[in-house]
Amino acid sequence: MSEATRIDGKAFAADLRAEIGRKVAVLKEKHGLTPGLSVVLVGEDPASEVYVRNKGKATLEAGMKSDTYTMPEDSSHDDVMAKVEELNADPSVHGILVQLPLPDQVDSDAIINAINPDKDVDGFHTLNVGRLNSGQDAMVPCTPVGCMVMLKEVIGDLTGKQAIVVGRSNIVGKPMAALLLKEHCTVTIAHSRTKDLPAECRRADIVIAAVGRAKMVKGDWIKPGAVVIDVGINRIEDASTKSGTRLVGDVDYDDAAKVAGAITPVPGGVGPMTIACLLKNTVTAACRQAGVPEPE
Ligand code: GUN
Repeated sequence: MSEATRIDGKAFAADLRAEIGRKVAVLKEKHGLTPGLSVVLVGEDPASEVYVRNKGKATLEAGMKSDTYTMPEDSSHDDVMAKVEELNADPSVHGILVQLPLPDQVDSDAIINAINPDKDVDGFHTLNVGRLNSGQDAMVPCTPVGCMVMLKEVIGDLTGKQAIVVGRSNIVGKPMAALLLKEHCTVTIAHSRTKDLPAECRRADIVIAAVGRAKMVKGDWIKPGAVVIDVGINRIEDASTKSGTRLVGDVDYDDAAKVAGAITPVPGGVGPMTIACLLKNTVTAACRQAGVPEPE
């Protein structure tokens, strides 16, 4: 059997970012509107710092306004809430992203639900979750949107496809399942207590791996020709690299690529698409708030 097509998320993301850059230029020229994204980072988690830096850089590169607010690890719940309220009230801020996880003393659900739902570019606010699940216009979480863009590019019409989402997080698994359902897939949501997970995966035309366990999904879990989207980002030890570690997904890529029809790599698959979709959501939010049509 021939090796699976490698789905180049980096290339898809570059195209999407270029398109967003063009839209931002039109908004500035025609409407004097510069979309603005504010990111709040509480504490010094190294992985979160990297994500936040990359988000800020991409926002500026697209021609948008970017602000990052770094708050100390021991910030109180009220301190974080006050920052959210300040950003809600600022008309130059169209998108607000509070990087998760937050320290224990901060009530994450209350903070997320305090964000103006129209500025909730993460799509985590309860109102946006409800809107997505009832088929209304919603801000949709960036990682699932990025996965859908790639699936549609690779497969086209998803109607009737058997899809499995491995993982049931609020950030990826649940919204991913909602989006697949919207595209008329038959959707299974699997998780740590699912019985015979390999057999469940083998029935699927589309496998979304989002469990956070390095190389868990093996080649013999994959139906021949299936499309595999790997959302996992796991750092594992690897003495052959300079740093002594390496990033891998939730899928055993080399093994699964022998069976799948197409598969995303890690890194260079879903990750770059997530940031591009955050920019996309910010442009959409800015247009809605300013009451101007989103450029074609
Ligand atoms: N932490 C890990 N992924 C995400 C994300 O997509 N959004 C936010 N706000 N925090 C995260």
